[in-house]
Amino acid sequence: MGRHFLRDDDLTPSEQREVLELALELRRDRYKVQPFVGPKAVAILFDKHSTRTRVSFSTGVAELGGYPLVIDAQNSHMGRGESVADTARVLERQVSAIVWRTYGQDRIDEMAAHSSVPVVNALTDQFHPCQILADLAAIADERGGVGALAGLDLAYVGDGANNMAHSYLLGGATAGMHVRIGTPDSYLPDPAVVARAEEIAESTGGSVTVTSDCDAAVTGADIVATDTWVSMGDEAQKAERMEVFLPYQVNDRTLELAAPGAHVLHCLPAYRGHEITASVIDGDQSLVWLEAEYRLHAQKALLSWLVDR
Ligand code: CP
Ligand code: NVA
Repeated sequence: MGRHFLRDDDLTPSEQREVLELALELRRDRYKVQPFVGPKAVAILFDKHSTRTRVSFSTGVAELGGYPLVIDAQNSHMGRGESVADTARVLERQVSAIVWRTYGQDRIDEMAAHSSVPVVNALTDQFHPCQILADLAAIADERGGVGALAGLDLAYVGDGANNMAHSYLLGGATAGMHVRIGTPDSYLPDPAVVARAEEIAESTGGSVTVTSDCDAAVTGADIVATDTWVSMGDEAQKAERMEVFLPYQVNDRTLELAAPGAHVLHCLPAYRGHEITASVIDGDQSLVWLEAEYRLHAQKALLSWLVDR
């Protein structure tokens, strides 16, 4: 059976380091590895919108010598009720990996349970693990290498219950970081994910803090991250979210509280004037464009690692 990447903790700390090292190498030498020898299609399925994930997986698979098949699930039979298990049974006979952006984590777990080829989570309601690999790679590149990640203070502020918050908890703890989540009490992360992150942090020397005090979360942080206040699927709650998250905006004052030279991350798309100000996302401390570029390198590293096994 192939290995899957469904959540950030599907990679052990040493496996995560291996993938990140390769991601940094691939940025410098883009065609260093080509694991797809011969006709190796990769199915890239979308149940939700995407710009970066769609482009970076398509480009990445092609650069690895594979053939990207991008499918909007709505236009496939999954969109009219064919089961996830049957879809997996058909795809695994024809492709060498399945990449899927979908709703509940249970759906991608089910796909993986019925697939002998690697299944990769391209975002679910609960996790966005490919994004965190890109984030970690961008930080590592900027701060002197993968070895520099452990011990950094990473503060994520905003919606503490969304996919990015959960993935920062697991992925950051795996990298040995001190992960701080600043979020209102009504948007706390899933307690099971916090408990798992604490367990990982114990073995990596990292730590986990969840607080509703945004200033406490960002004070002295080496990395400040945020995400949209209205994730895909949350549109009906837009008005209340705009109000409750306002004190968690990343702005010039946030950077005054953070460590000198702190870097800023945002997975994009960004809504300037809401979760982040233009002065910060377009400022000198922003790493967001390198972060977006690293979607390509990190996913190529991941796919090559999974497919070569
Ligand atoms: N950050 C990210 O996953 O972007 P897309 O939704 O555009 O793929
Ligand atoms: N939390 C956001 C991430 C988008 C890449 C969402 O799920 O919409």
